[in-house]
Amino acid sequence: MKALVLSGGAGTRLRPFSYSMPKQLIPVAGKPVLVHAVENLRALGITEIGIVVGGHAAEIAAALGDGSRFGVRVSYIRQDVPHGLADCVRLARDFLADDDFVMYLGDNVLPGGLAELAEGFLARRPAAHVAVKKVGDPSSFGVVQVDGEGRAVRLWEKPAHPVGDLAIMGVYFFTPAVHEAVAAIRPSARGELEITDAIQQLVSAGHEVRVHEHHGQWWDTGKLEDLLECNRALLDILPPPVAGAAAGAVDAHSELVGPVILGPGARIVRSRIVGPAVIGGGSEVVDSALGPYTVIGEECRLSGAGVEDSIVLDRARIRQVRGIRQSVIGRAALVISSPRGGHRLAVGDHTTVEVAAA
Ligand code: DAU
Repeated sequence: MKALVLSGGAGTRLRPFSYSMPKQLIPVAGKPVLVHAVENLRALGITEIGIVVGGHAAEIAAALGDGSRFGVRVSYIRQDVPHGLADCVRLARDFLADDDFVMYLGDNVLPGGLAELAEGFLARRPAAHVAVKKVGDPSSFGVVQVDGEGRAVRLWEKPAHPVGDLAIMGVYFFTPAVHEAVAAIRPSARGELEITDAIQQLVSAGHEVRVHEHHGQWWDTGKLEDLLECNRALLDILPPPVAGAAAGAVDAHSELVGPVILGPGARIVRSRIVGPAVIGGGSEVVDSALGPYTVIGEECRLSGAGVEDSIVLDRARIRQVRGIRQSVIGRAALVISSPRGGHRLAVGDHTTVEVAAA
């Protein structure tokens, strides 16, 4: 079986970060979302992975390379305009050849892996095997209606008035029957070739489409709140740091409480860090208090900082600002206290800033 990982798209809900980096490379628990995906696929024994890339192709290629670092072989498939999930299958036709494949949305995280989903597919090998999750309001997802035997009856993409509560996740298993279905559909009202429509086409043509309810954890990290929630959950199951790994990096006036992972060359001076937390390689934390669920990227500089439940990306600097929580701070961003009082902001396009009420 091959895998097709979708890492193109516009990422509008993750602006401003998605302006300068692909949303699939935003780190959760210290590792890009896309790397979590590749590791899940490798754990399933899949070594042939096609990655659909758009405008941020170079950055994705820099992160994954040829895949050998992860024990897989990566082929890049270029999608110039994000014309939809089924368009990705169309573009990957040569790579996929006549193999079965799992299609995995590059912004999805399933900490428990894919083994159970894959077993379900392999047991019957239906034309499509679709992973779903019960959610309160599935209107921002694909939605599927199922019969008593676990077969899909009808599917909709982001319906205003959903039938039932089964949201389609970002993991689909297909036999090559899907290619004919993709060729038969037309762009939706939003101008995309929807994979939901292709699966509906399979159902209408009489193919077996099975629905598998996933009981494990799952996040679509396409929105900031979900990204932070996913970060918390993954940090909770982080393997404990190797004893003694922090030796020399933490001065005598600092305290690490609970699991705190320090990257190579990270330095902690007169600070208190409560885990689970990850401090990236080459970062310096001085006179600061970092709370649980904080991930600091590489080469960051924090002094007099108070941060918890947040993701700070590489090379960011925070000076004399406390009370930062549930925040995502971009690469090389500067957050400092103002000597003049008040707030002086250089806020990028589509950025959200929340400050304490006066
Ligand atoms: O996360 C689950 C949902 O994913 C499903 O419930 C929906 O049925 C499905 O359409 C999809 O909806 P999203 O709105 O979340 O899709 P998004 O645009 O975020 O794209 C998902 C991934 O696919 C993301 O990593 C970007 C990539 N992508 C997307 C498009 C539209 C591409 O590579 N090319 C594309 O043309």
